[in-house]
Amino acid sequence: MVSRTLLAALVAGAAAHPVIEARQSAVNQTLESWIQRQFNISLDSAILNIGGVNGNVVEAAGTGYVVASPSTINPDYFYTWTRDSALTELMIVDELIFGTERVGNNSLQVVVEQYTRAQARLQTVTNPSGALWPAGQGLGEPKFYSNGTRFNGAWGRPQNDGPALRASTLMEIAEAIFRRNPNAPTIVSTVYWPLIYNDLLYVGQYWNTSSYDLWEEVNGNSFFTTTAQHRALVQGSIWAQRLNKTCEPCAQAPQIACFLENNFWNETGNYVLANINANQVNRSQINCDPILAAMHAFDINATCDAAALQPCNSKTLATHKVWVDSFRDLYPVNNNATAPSPVLTGRYPEDTYYGGNPWYITTAAAAEVLYDAHAQFTKAGRITVDRVSLPFWQDLVPQVRQGVYHSPGNGTALLDAVKTYADGFLSVIQTYTPANGTLNEQINRTTGEPTSAIALTWSFAALVTAVDRRNGDFPPSWGANSTTANNVSNICSWSAYNSTTKYAPVLALGASPVPTPCETEVILNLLYATGPGENTYIVGNTSVFGNTLSNTSAVIQVLRTNNVTNGNPQWFVPAWLPAGVPLEYKYVVLNSTDNTYKFENVSHFAYPPACGNNTVVSYLVNGTSLYT
Ligand code: NOJ
Ligand code: NOJ
Repeated sequence: MVSRTLLAALVAGAAAHPVIEARQSAVNQTLESWIQRQFNISLDSAILNIGGVNGNVVEAAGTGYVVASPSTINPDYFYTWTRDSALTELMIVDELIFGTERVGNNSLQVVVEQYTRAQARLQTVTNPSGALWPAGQGLGEPKFYSNGTRFNGAWGRPQNDGPALRASTLMEIAEAIFRRNPNAPTIVSTVYWPLIYNDLLYVGQYWNTSSYDLWEEVNGNSFFTTTAQHRALVQGSIWAQRLNKTCEPCAQAPQIACFLENNFWNETGNYVLANINANQVNRSQINCDPILAAMHAFDINATCDAAALQPCNSKTLATHKVWVDSFRDLYPVNNNATAPSPVLTGRYPEDTYYGGNPWYITTAAAAEVLYDAHAQFTKAGRITVDRVSLPFWQDLVPQVRQGVYHSPGNGTALLDAVKTYADGFLSVIQTYTPANGTLNEQINRTTGEPTSAIALTWSFAALVTAVDRRNGDFPPSWGANSTTANNVSNICSWSAYNSTTKYAPVLALGASPVPTPCETEVILNLLYATGPGENTYIVGNTSVFGNTLSNTSAVIQVLRTNNVTNGNPQWFVPAWLPAGVPLEYKYVVLNSTDNTYKFENVSHFAYPPACGNNTVVSYLVNGTSLYT
């Protein structure tokens, strides 16, 4: 059902917006019949974006690699992102578990097995973030070419949600294997666990460092990333018990829970902050990030006050309201529709990527998280409306007051309202989906035309999971209700597990017996006060620095800003380099206003310690005089 306000808006806007006029026919189709068809199209389309499957639309991709979108220009998304892949394959393995009837002719089981093998290979690909051995840094690389080779371009790296999400997806695949054959778990112990364990080692070692967020823009600590890390380690310790193994990095989970619980809540704004310790200071941090986090933490067995933020937690509902409201007046296409009209939503209000538009992923998330909450409230038989969630509920049922509502009983109206509201977000998607059911990345904020990447895999996956939750198909519990998940350290500390030298390629899954070259760490620091539009990079005569001292197309490593302060503009990059091999390097400044690079005229040298020597050597160049 499309809400009356929206319909009125559509009718009013018809003359001015031919696109919207064309969409009127979509409105006439009932939501139910559209959903049924769109679910099949979306599941098929997501799978057809994977290399090696029958009938795929991404022939150049290697088997098992999930391509973000077949688009090769504007934007070029013909890459495989660890995040998009893990979330898509999590959806696919859940369909396998639900016993979804497939429309196409690809076996879901084969699809997830091919993903597993592809990830085993990918774990061992040395890349600009580093290598697998000895310190796992290469696992934080956000994306690769879709044939599984390294991408050397400048990018927001590392992105630490990747290994955490992948670990959870692989554990879900392990779950599917167990359910099919409870007596044959050997493959899980001997083959899956080592693969999962590499990612858990990474999470335990690096959860306390900053990394780029899921939108690849903010370097800091993201709520989504940290939630994914917490879930992975909790699941890891539960699986370790099940398989009679130990998971030492998993012992970090109570610290992560403490960090999540104490740092992200914005009391005055009544929402969960997307990022803290971040380089983007001019943002409200109102964002879809915590909504996606609550969806990822969703566990039908969890209570609303579980340590991992659940969809039915008051803070999630409060954040939902603040975030959705931020787009009501912002996107012309929303026609200032007030609550409880559902509207198109985007990543965050300050977004400017492709002009800053609504996204299919985020609008599907607006629905999905409410279906999750609805299911949890229904299961509990009660809803507690408190100070934090009151504004959310008042939008839906104006006369609501703080208190406990029961269902069946006086809470039924609230439950019905939340379901109708969730359906409304799917109706809005329906309105802006072309007749052939393809889903781009974005929807133009003014015209309502689909824009940016075509046939985005993650958009399809997001639609499928939202419809599943609406249908009452819930993923197996990941343990959000377990004592492990609810063990929250009393005092938060930036602890970490030292995983160095414990990573290992999983040869049994076809990972190349990678040369595990001995690498040692150096930290390269540059003191340089950038001017407007300037950013600092580094090149050098080793592969992670592009094997060049002069080539702009190889300017690959952007320096990190964590130590940059007003009085002390100290940029840095930690680098694992071939042990004992001297490095020659230069700093480069890119002026993005006229796109010019300035290379230093002199080289510097660094001397990575010999193999086995774990001393980290730090080099500092005072760059302020270099360009005068
Ligand atoms: C590409 C990223 O994928 C996108 O999320 C980001 O907004 C743009 N780069 C701009 O940084
Ligand atoms: C841009 C999104 O911001 C990012 O999250 C995603 O990984 C890439 N596009 C690829 O879909």
